[in-house]
Amino acid sequence: MTRFAILLASALVLAAAPAAHAAPPVAPVLATADAVDPHSFARPLEARVTNVALDLDVDFARQSIAGSATLDIARRPNAREIVLDSKGYEVTRVNDAATGAPLPFRLGTGTAELGRPLAITLRPGTRRIRVGYVARNAEALQWLTPAQTAGKRQPFLFSQGQSIFNRSWIPTQDSPGIRQTWSARIRVPGPLTAVMSAPGQRVAATSGPANAASGQRTFTFRMDEPVAPYLIAIAVGDLQFQSLGERTGVWAEPVTLPAAARELEDTEKMVATAERLFGKYRWGRYDMIVLPPSFPFGGMENPTLTFLTPTFIAGDKSLTSLIAHELAHSWSGNLATNATWADFWLNEGTTTYAERRIIEEVYRPRVARQQVALGIDALGQAITDAGGPTGADTRLAIDLKGRSPDEGLTDIAYEKGAAFLRMLESQVGRQRFDPFLRGWFDRHAFQPVTSAMFLADVRRELVRGDAALEQRLQLDRWVYGTGIPANALPADAQAFAEVDRAVTAAAGGALPSAAWSGWTTDERLRFLTRLPRQQSRDGLDALERTFRLNETGNNELLFAWLSLAVANRYDPAVPALERFLTSQGRRKFVRPLMKTLADDKAWGRPIAVRAYRRARPGYHPLVTGELDKLGLL
Ligand code: BES
Ligand code: ZN
Repeated sequence: MTRFAILLASALVLAAAPAAHAAPPVAPVLATADAVDPHSFARPLEARVTNVALDLDVDFARQSIAGSATLDIARRPNAREIVLDSKGYEVTRVNDAATGAPLPFRLGTGTAELGRPLAITLRPGTRRIRVGYVARNAEALQWLTPAQTAGKRQPFLFSQGQSIFNRSWIPTQDSPGIRQTWSARIRVPGPLTAVMSAPGQRVAATSGPANAASGQRTFTFRMDEPVAPYLIAIAVGDLQFQSLGERTGVWAEPVTLPAAARELEDTEKMVATAERLFGKYRWGRYDMIVLPPSFPFGGMENPTLTFLTPTFIAGDKSLTSLIAHELAHSWSGNLATNATWADFWLNEGTTTYAERRIIEEVYRPRVARQQVALGIDALGQAITDAGGPTGADTRLAIDLKGRSPDEGLTDIAYEKGAAFLRMLESQVGRQRFDPFLRGWFDRHAFQPVTSAMFLADVRRELVRGDAALEQRLQLDRWVYGTGIPANALPADAQAFAEVDRAVTAAAGGALPSAAWSGWTTDERLRFLTRLPRQQSRDGLDALERTFRLNETGNNELLFAWLSLAVANRYDPAVPALERFLTSQGRRKFVRPLMKTLADDKAWGRPIAVRAYRRARPGYHPLVTGELDKLGLL
């Protein structure tokens, strides 16, 4: 029996089960072995959360979120308990929400990484439970002092749920296959505004003078589509909104808002383009929030409200493929969601492919071609980092049992995944591939998906029994095999023809001083990342003198330059390096620089110690958790 047949069969079994022992209504895929999530303690086939209603106070003085989560439960009638994920929050009480009866609960043994199972005893008729709790020092949350914000006047709070952090502030089943609708009522201090990854509004302060007197403001939110729980997100701060188009807009601190809005002016066009390519945008509005510089990622695709680093603001829209990427997740990831983190490539590889399709339409094909070429270089590096073409983690579907989901967060998922889709596209042609991809999103909208399901869809919709095509595609090799299969599209040698010639000339000492000013950011990045990693002091002096890289306002370029400088112990870049490390906390930038510095005991380590001492209070817990392991302080 093929995997697909097993899937169908298990769906039928679930549907046909006698009512008395009926399984809760789960996506049939959750009953298959490859959809069992090793990173959650939940047992969704027995009892699962279907809706989360949060009622929370945000307390900046205590750095805590406290209140209750009311959970709707689908269960087998004979289920004795429901198991939630928990990591650090303190449960004060659990009640049956219908009767008020207290329900016994207990924390089981867990692991440092996953947290602990929270098992709540169910009564025979329990369908809704209320968990009272306090979350302090939650890993998902970063509390910023006024000094750590752009405006310097008000504190700031934001969350980062992916991959398994939301279990530190939301008592629920924190597994991407267990989709939940949700709502929230959030109280915040005085002048602050709360935004979440769902449509929301401020509640008029008519609910009693107590609220007005205490200077509290209340906001409510409601997500009516079932989403993976890692996509529930919140930000609270001195926030203002600027509209960008009919259904797009941006939130930011007032001082950041004008530059953010200018950088994001193509967003409405991107949404329209994405809809033409991938089908209707199903989330209503597409808004974004530009967070303070400690936001640990480039972007995070929280539904209806993408979270963004301010480091993408370059003044010339040259880093906005980030927006195309997070927007594309509205289909790949948020509609069709990896059932477990082992299939992370279905989220990120599909999105990276889709991102460049959007860029091709909104800008020009040449820009997209160049970004594909940069991606191929990044993939080569990722394969080297994973131990070469036979490295186990060069597979698309990887084995994460007993490991952190973060270990799958490499360019293999992004770039091998994208290369796989480009190969499919070129083998069957866009005329067939584009409807296939739209169909994939449609057929699995609001559902968890696995690698096996993707391959089943490719075979059913594209291969359709054509043995020669099946042979050409090498589907299983791509997904379950290591390295890059031979049918991958070759890198386009023409994409950066001029830049690549300049790289060769630079080896002979001639820098492209005239050409550089006409180059795009991607061209400059190609140049810097393709230069030999080993550079002489004179070579670096010449680069700095000619291109003034220490002073660039483009953070991707600055990172590429500083990486080269640090690898070659280039002192004149150290002030710029320290400024960079202490003024933003994006993991992709700070982790590799800090690591290279820390490994260079004689030259780099003292710099890393100095910078980390100053920067650490501003970094996100997710980043300090890793950097602390370098033993710098
Ligand atoms: N969803 C990811 C960010 C993420 C992945 C956070 C896994 C936590 C765990 C987001 O869409 C992403 O890929 N961001 C990239 C930018 C993108 C343009 C490659 C980033 O943050 O660098
Ligand atoms: Zn992504």
